[in-house]
Amino acid sequence: MNLSIIGTGYVGLVTGACFADVGHTVICVDSDREKVRRLQGGEIPIFEPGLEALVHRTVAAGRLSFTSSTAEGVAGSEAVFIAVPTPPQPDGSVDLSFIEGVAREIAGCLTGYRVIVDKSTVPVKTAEKVAETIKRYRKTDADFDVVSNPEFLREGFAIDDLMKPDRVVVGTSSERAAAKMREIYEPFHAPIIVTDANSAELIKHAANSFLALKISYANALSVICEASGANVQEVTRGMGLDARIGTRFLQAGLGFGGSCFPKDLSAFIKISEQLGYDFRLLKEVQRINATQMERFHQKITDTLWVLKEKHIGVLGLTFKQNTDDVRNSPSIDLCHRMLADGARLRVHDPKGMEKARAFFPAGSAVEYVSEAEAVATGCDALVIATEWSEFGRLDWARIKSSMATAIVFDGRNLLDPVEMKQLGFLYRSIGR
Ligand code: UGA
Repeated sequence: MNLSIIGTGYVGLVTGACFADVGHTVICVDSDREKVRRLQGGEIPIFEPGLEALVHRTVAAGRLSFTSSTAEGVAGSEAVFIAVPTPPQPDGSVDLSFIEGVAREIAGCLTGYRVIVDKSTVPVKTAEKVAETIKRYRKTDADFDVVSNPEFLREGFAIDDLMKPDRVVVGTSSERAAAKMREIYEPFHAPIIVTDANSAELIKHAANSFLALKISYANALSVICEASGANVQEVTRGMGLDARIGTRFLQAGLGFGGSCFPKDLSAFIKISEQLGYDFRLLKEVQRINATQMERFHQKITDTLWVLKEKHIGVLGLTFKQNTDDVRNSPSIDLCHRMLADGARLRVHDPKGMEKARAFFPAGSAVEYVSEAEAVATGCDALVIATEWSEFGRLDWARIKSSMATAIVFDGRNLLDPVEMKQLGFLYRSIGR
């Protein structure tokens, strides 16, 4: 089927490439002409495992192309996907101006029936507003349906999540639109759940908030484990093997970050408030997440006493492994705290150093180190802030001999406490 995707961020670009890979013909639209020019030249603006090869392959096959013209995208497509940013506003609510702008643009070039699919994460009732906007601004009486089709991909695993989804949620009351959506997703062989648009929109916020809640639950448990001498990894494993609970998203650490969970939690709290419900459970999830970082920072200052002029190595800057994304990264937050204490940082990340430079430019007390192991050289302590699995495979005996004092703070429980002790490290992790 001929499809267009408006917005070439993580969701839009990965979705476009995957749709093209399963046989659809996709045109990706972005208002940023420079970005489109780079994409047309084969340059991929983000790091996502497997994405570059996938884009190049589908472009070469003639099934994926890029344009900055919404009219061109809408003209040749049976379904138009909206995947533009929905950034947070200072009060936690969602800025829907990009969505509204795209709805007006689509309205301006609608000439025949189209399925308009919202993939961006939006508050409940947004599909109704998009439909109203298109009706108000369309220049012909061309028919259309608006469908909510929330995205569940994780950065770093986006292609896998998209190619093998647990489920596809389609929110619409139009049988015609639902049939088109079934056809689009048929090659993915996933269960398709058709709901009304409001329910589909709520599914996304409910799912992300619940996953964040699981993480905060594990982080709260880590406090109890530290106080009682138990091991949070054993506790969460023992709980998680109950199929009703599940082991995933119960990894205690520095707390959740990224461009989704913090934003979606705030948005869902705000939406609930507007609908007359005080979602205090989710406010507590936020509070636990914030205190988890404070506790870890406290652990560092309690151990090192004075941080001023101390050299601290930091492994990991991204908000999680397998991405170059540093937005709302717990690691960046921790670096800011240690810098405020007067520490000097030597940092390394396999993919995130370029984007981290926006936070800590050259000339600040942050030195970017190209080799992970070399971060430790001369340091008073080393912090593991992101769970890149390769950090677990470093030569920790060699690292120890290169440090001024052998102290490791493992914010992701990546290493084995017994082995680290045997190697002679003073080792502090989370809830163990
Ligand atoms: C999240 C959801 O997992 C996706 O399903 C959703 O589509 C996406 O948001 C979105 O709304 O677009 P993402 O933000 O890419 O995906 O990353 P996650 O893998 O969910 O991790 C989020 C944060 O939680 C990271 O900082 C990670 O380190 C942390 N986390 C995750 C933990 O601290 N413990 C865990 O057990 C799992």
